[in-house]
Amino acid sequence: EMLKVSFTVNGKVRELELDTRTTLLDALREHIQLTGTKKGCDQGQCGACTVIVDGRRINSCLTLAVMHEGDKITTIEGLGAVGDLHPMQAAFLKHDGYQCGYCTPGQICSAVGMLAELKAGVPSHVTADPAVGPKFSNAETRERMSGNICRCGAYSNIQEAIAEVAG
Ligand code: FES
Repeated sequence: EMLKVSFTVNGKVRELELDTRTTLLDALREHIQLTGTKKGCDQGQCGACTVIVDGRRINSCLTLAVMHEGDKITTIEGLGAVGDLHPMQAAFLKHDGYQCGYCTPGQICSAVGMLAELKAGVPSHVTADPAVGPKFSNAETRERMSGNICRCGAYSNIQEAIAEVAG
């Protein structure tokens, strides 16, 4: 079955008519040619497809595009651009937070989402005192970034990049 859906991607309204089974990931990559978001596993295990929807990070392979009517979606292409990088993109460059680069768009979207969660006081399993709220730490980073797999193993550099942006 085909359905119409309208959502905003990186500030631009997109109106699509899609098979209802189309994932948000495939809609982004194949219907509006935003191929910065990567498909690693297509089943919620690797985090390569992470995008930010209405301020929260999600695995775009695990959600259907037609469920996102009216949503505001940010992909790696919307965070920054060459010559105008998002601070997290600049920090990944500075700290070599990637090797092959395939997981990097998802890592960066997830890192931006993680810092927003900390700012909003959302506790994690390693938050010492949930009543007080989380503070930035490498333990929080490891916990909150655990859904983003890097086969090259650039984790320590990714951690350093996030720590720099967290201040
Ligand atoms: Fe979505 Fe791996 S492609 S989690």
